[in-house]
Amino acid sequence: MASHDWVGRKKIVITGSREKVSRPPGAEWWAERLGAEVVPRGRRTLAEVAEEHGAWGVLVLQAQRVVFYVPSEGLEYFYHPGMARRRIRAILAGQGDPMVTAMGLQPGDRLLDCTLGRATDAIVGAFVVGPSGRVVGVESVPVVAALTAHGLGSFDSGHERVNEAMRWVEVVCADNAEYLANVAPGAFDVIYFDPVFHQPVKKSSAMVPLRALADRRPLTAEVIELALAKAGRVVVIKQRKGTPLWQKVRPARVVGGRHATVEYGVFLPAA
Ligand SMILES: C[S@@+](CC[C@H](N)C(=O)[O-])C[C@H]1O[C@@H](n2cnc3c(N)ncnc32)[C@H](O)[C@@H]1O
Repeated sequence: MASHDWVGRKKIVITGSREKVSRPPGAEWWAERLGAEVVPRGRRTLAEVAEEHGAWGVLVLQAQRVVFYVPSEGLEYFYHPGMARRRIRAILAGQGDPMVTAMGLQPGDRLLDCTLGRATDAIVGAFVVGPSGRVVGVESVPVVAALTAHGLGSFDSGHERVNEAMRWVEVVCADNAEYLANVAPGAFDVIYFDPVFHQPVKKSSAMVPLRALADRRPLTAEVIELALAKAGRVVVIKQRKGTPLWQKVRPARVVGGRHATVEYGVFLPAA
């Protein structure tokens, strides 16, 4: 779906089936972000409440976690930081990270992630730039932005330095082109895009629920130009290996392992 598909579809916020209160604390925060209505659940099933209210999407505030369901599509989405912990451990072990290499990311850098998703990349970026740097992540789909913002603030990865990095990422719910239009030139050293691939990478089953909800509009040459006009040092775009995008917009170089399924195009702003 494109982010605009989100607007015309009814969303509701309910409690988990075991909760006793009908308006749990925090319900308004979620309702406002999703453009949803908070409705009482009573003893009904999720599907019954959704049907009664003609709702397409149902956000369930369970005691342990928050889950977004689309009953008609069998979709269930909740926050998880993906491979962030494994990638940070690899960096700590001196094995590096191809995204960080492509960005030339350093402590103190300011990174703008224009396609935040679950913020796996942004967390790795935050770990590298550290507290003297800054990471802002832009996500256009409200439920993805809200669940990621909530997860970044509360998820326990079991690794103190990963948790720290998660808390440093700032989340903005917006279309990246609109956000970029208002960014001062040079405000970010690195501007990054990881758009939804036209064809998914088969191994990446963790991406399936996010793919279903994500804004799948392709990245345009105009947005890349805009990013190049605003980036202080570099624009990096993640793509499937062998992407036709590099024929339309030529990167200065491409970073990626020989056996990797993805690669990073590195674009340098005009001096
Ligand atoms: C492939 S996912 C990014 C995954 C992310 N790099 C991570 O590490 O979790 C792409 C995300 O960008 C979002 N997106 C796509 N187009 C966008 C746009 N124009 N503005 C803002 N977000 C966008 C999608 O909704 C989706 O959540």
